[in-house]
Amino acid sequence: MPVFEDLKVFGGNAHPELLNDICAYLGIGPGEIEVFKFSNDNTFVRILENIRERDVFIVQPLSAPVNDNLMELLIMLDAARRASAGRITAVIPYYAYGRSDKKDQPRVPITARLVANLIEVSGADRVLTIDLHAGQIQGFFNIPVDELSAVPMLSNYYLEKNFEDVVVMATDVGDAKRAGDTAKILNADIAIIEKHRIGNKEMVEVSNLIGEVGGRTAIIVDDEILTGGTVIAAAEALVERGAKEIWCGVTHGILSGRSPELIENSAIKEFLVTDTLPISEDKRGTKTKLMSVASLLGEAIYRIHNGHSVGAMFEE
Ligand code: R5P
Repeated sequence: MPVFEDLKVFGGNAHPELLNDICAYLGIGPGEIEVFKFSNDNTFVRILENIRERDVFIVQPLSAPVNDNLMELLIMLDAARRASAGRITAVIPYYAYGRSDKKDQPRVPITARLVANLIEVSGADRVLTIDLHAGQIQGFFNIPVDELSAVPMLSNYYLEKNFEDVVVMATDVGDAKRAGDTAKILNADIAIIEKHRIGNKEMVEVSNLIGEVGGRTAIIVDDEILTGGTVIAAAEALVERGAKEIWCGVTHGILSGRSPELIENSAIKEFLVTDTLPISEDKRGTKTKLMSVASLLGEAIYRIHNGHSVGAMFEE
């Protein structure tokens, strides 16, 4: 029995393909909504159907242009609340500003917390997301957060390849849990690189690699790829230490600047990435393999709507 009235799923302009795929999984059409900008650059939203007392899900990853997409999300939440929705869930497959989750330099903001506050005051009753940059960001919200993980689906892809001698590579200490979870599914070892960021310049350097990688198939895992600096540095360290083959699997493909080209020209054999963000054709190289999170999100929405366990999805 659904806890709230009918299920309605809406989306803004950030990722219409994912919205359609989620709705196809649920066997419903996307809700009718208009979201556009006036000539003065102000965003306008109008929900074009009755949602009074409905269970409303608003799908909007915080992809580029991040601030426009965030603003669209906030305004859609506000519109849904003022239209008397019964319950509103912000479905944010990719949560931007996740790296700004602590004061690690003097006089800097904690933007991940600010964004959480904005989402709450705009009217969200719950949040559904995938692979936050740090799990603790859940605590920036005072409303329930369901954080799904793409690790099982990415790991199962590699499991089906039946690699013989695998090592899962964490790109820094903070990534060790993800690497450990992947390694558990693959029954593999893990290795870790010691990475340092150089100021705020989006550059990284590797000072050490811990673990046995020589002659082995290495899978680099990470939550996101932005400039590509991290995974390219990890791949170079693996080549230097004699890894046999290098694969790379990440959840969020932000793929800024020259990163698609860097991946294309690297020793990485295949770059596996999900569609939490839209990845345009020009960002997909010959090594890119896309995996959709539509069924993961669709199933979670179905379970939230019907009051079933979301955690059970990861036990099965
Ligand atoms: C860092 O802590 C993250 O897990 C990623 O490694 C990082 O955000 C990737 O950024 P880039 O591709 O610019 O090195």
